[in-house]
Amino acid sequence: MRILLRGGRVIDPSQHIDEKMDLLIENGKIVRVAKNIYRNGAESEADAPSTLKILDLRGKAVVPGLVDMHTHLREPGYEYKETIRTGGAAAAAGGFTAVACMPNTDPVNDTRSVTEFIIRQAAESNRVRVYPVAAISRKSEGVVLSEFWDLKDAGAVAVSDDGKPVMNGALMRRALEYACSLGMTVISHCEDTGLSAGGVMNEGFVSTELGLQGSPAVAEEAMVSRDILIAEFTGTAVHIAHVSAAGSVRLIRDAKSRGVRVTAETAPHYFTLTDEAVREYDANAKVNPPLRGIEDVAAVREGLRDGTIDVIATDHAPHAATDKEVEFDDAASGMVGLETALGLGLKLVSDGVLTLSELIRKMSVNPVRILNVTGGTLRTGSAADVTVIDPERRWSVDRERFHSKGRNTPFHGWDLKGKAVMTIVGGEVKFQEP
Ligand code: DOR
Ligand code: ZN
Repeated sequence: MRILLRGGRVIDPSQHIDEKMDLLIENGKIVRVAKNIYRNGAESEADAPSTLKILDLRGKAVVPGLVDMHTHLREPGYEYKETIRTGGAAAAAGGFTAVACMPNTDPVNDTRSVTEFIIRQAAESNRVRVYPVAAISRKSEGVVLSEFWDLKDAGAVAVSDDGKPVMNGALMRRALEYACSLGMTVISHCEDTGLSAGGVMNEGFVSTELGLQGSPAVAEEAMVSRDILIAEFTGTAVHIAHVSAAGSVRLIRDAKSRGVRVTAETAPHYFTLTDEAVREYDANAKVNPPLRGIEDVAAVREGLRDGTIDVIATDHAPHAATDKEVEFDDAASGMVGLETALGLGLKLVSDGVLTLSELIRKMSVNPVRILNVTGGTLRTGSAADVTVIDPERRWSVDRERFHSKGRNTPFHGWDLKGKAVMTIVGGEVKFQEP
């Protein structure tokens, strides 16, 4: 199949391109990026192969496919919340060409058989690329390391006990050393469970008013600090998941300036919402780490702006209504994110926090670099993983129309500007806005 994406604004931060150009896809690869392909005089439309599908993309942005390095697909074990098929469809609809899926399934992805199962299901569902993240420790219990080599050999790209921290510092040290020697990324869920114990939202003014037990920012910051120190001591790389607190941003900034190999992500809810969103006891605003205060939101936005935070990931965490429509204390943590991340990310552009090119860097180029996977570029010869964005398109978030099984979003009814209108994976159109 041949596709010519004509006349769009091609933004490829990996090559410092931001220009109106055409992009030609053939046999799953990007074969040319240039102005006026098949209409520059020497080479007219008549020279184009008859099988060529030409798409007029004037007014649209053509970018390297978005890559979400933090998704929960729930399969195996929690198929009532999400499956690899429905999560993949949600990803494509959100403009993602690839996702890395977290291991807190049932069974936990701590063995070759689970990793292989995920890869098989992803191939069968045939939507986006799926990169399994395996558990750091067996059953993510934080006691015994899992078999990193075997998991990597099976196709896992990174390790994480996401959902839970690795409380034992010695185990984290071994994990960093072992993963580093294999070229696997370690993604750390930073939470001191002693400090966070019992907390169901951010500890602060709002939790006091609501009479809910708070989890303080220091529960996150203390572990960010520990992981930075271990990474510095061992000379290994560590990636900090879902940064929510101002202190974490400061610690990561300081560490980077010392040359520590630390990278970090945040999620749209942390740069968009504060703990005020919990006021109506809306369990859709319950997430871990929790939504924080206004100073934290400001710090996360500044961290994105100045490069301290490398990545915007979704932490897409679908749950069923039965998991959420219970007392706030008992409700599951997490919110869906694949279908709203780009729209919320584009608000950072309209707010002047990031340029569109910087946003694409954080949603595609940087996650690809950190995970060392396919994508993140429109370079000639690379896989044709491409997202087409209509930056002007206004739309309302309607959770009933999500491709995800999850309806758990605090953004239902929000009016957003900018949307993915086409998602191309390996040269095949996997989503097209109707
Ligand atoms: O809110 C969250 N939900 N935070 C996590 O760390 C895990 C996730 C989930 O799996 O639902
Ligand atoms: Zn997560």
